[in-house]
Amino acid sequence: MADELAILGCGTMGEAILGGLLHERLYTPEQVVVTVRRAEAGAQLQQRHGVVALRDNVEACSRAQVVLVAVKPQYMAELLDDDRMRAAIGDKLVISIAAGVRLATLGTWLPAARLIRAMPNTPCLVSRGMTVLAPGPRAGADELAVARRIFHAVGRVIELEDKHMDAVTSLNGSGPAFAYVMLEALADGGVMMGLRRDVALEIAASVFLGAATMVLDTKLHPAALKDQVTTPAGSTIAGLLTMEDGRIRSVLARTIQEATKVAASLGPRE
Ligand SMILES: NC(=O)c1ccc[n+]([C@@H]2O[C@H](COP(=O)([O-])OP(=O)(O)OC[C@H]3O[C@@H](n4cnc5c(N)ncnc54)[C@H](OP(=O)(O)O)[C@@H]3O)[C@@H](O)[C@H]2O)c1
Repeated sequence: MADELAILGCGTMGEAILGGLLHERLYTPEQVVVTVRRAEAGAQLQQRHGVVALRDNVEACSRAQVVLVAVKPQYMAELLDDDRMRAAIGDKLVISIAAGVRLATLGTWLPAARLIRAMPNTPCLVSRGMTVLAPGPRAGADELAVARRIFHAVGRVIELEDKHMDAVTSLNGSGPAFAYVMLEALADGGVMMGLRRDVALEIAASVFLGAATMVLDTKLHPAALKDQVTTPAGSTIAGLLTMEDGRIRSVLARTIQEATKVAASLGPRE
């Protein structure tokens, strides 16, 4: 991509995306400018990736055609709701990954910008991320294509309407944490039955990876895949019934319901 990219707030998520973009050669280091708050963090990014790191967000936006905003949600208003920033950004494409900051709110801060809201997750750090994009009214097919290419560098990408982003924040953004708890609990069971902790964790993690890949690649319903593993009077059905006794389905589904409620209360309101 020829356009210059600015990544405002190049921390954990910003650097994960930057790493993917440079690795996939979508951008050269010369085409990317990043910003951070601390000078030493900027020097480290410059050293690790060869990009220009600034502390002046307005200057970074002036240089770039595409702006990826990756600061914490609580810093979004002071960063974007600013006349110098509005002038530097104009009608450029701005992609925000801040949790809880709606397109309507972004639109009040940057009324001329072509806006896309994105919700990635931490597996982007290992190029196995999932990102959901919600385009604003000024963002068309070209802008979506740019955003798709950016997040595709660190994993899978789909598009949804902004109204779904609270559920997405919970299922996609928080989802890895829920998966870690399930994974750890299964490994605990293995340890209880005599497996070494490291072995149990490796097996449990591989099981999650393999099962998730089965669902994505075969496109079969998880229930059909579960039935394939379940022989009559076998150990799998014994374990499955124990899970059902613990009401694991409603616990997990309500986990997403509760986390979505909290996600809906995050961020500033327009
Ligand atoms: N982590 C997740 O799972 C996840 C998932 C989806 C979306 N998100 C969203 O991603 C965003 C970033 O999260 P993160 O976990 O990557 O946070 P983070 O690691 O704390 O990174 C934030 C970065 O912003 C920089 N920063 C702070 N104030 C700034 C300013 N005024 N100008 C320029 N840079 C500034 C910080 O610089 P210094 O290092 O110098 O302080 C840091 O590099 C959040 O909005 C979050 O909602 C996170």
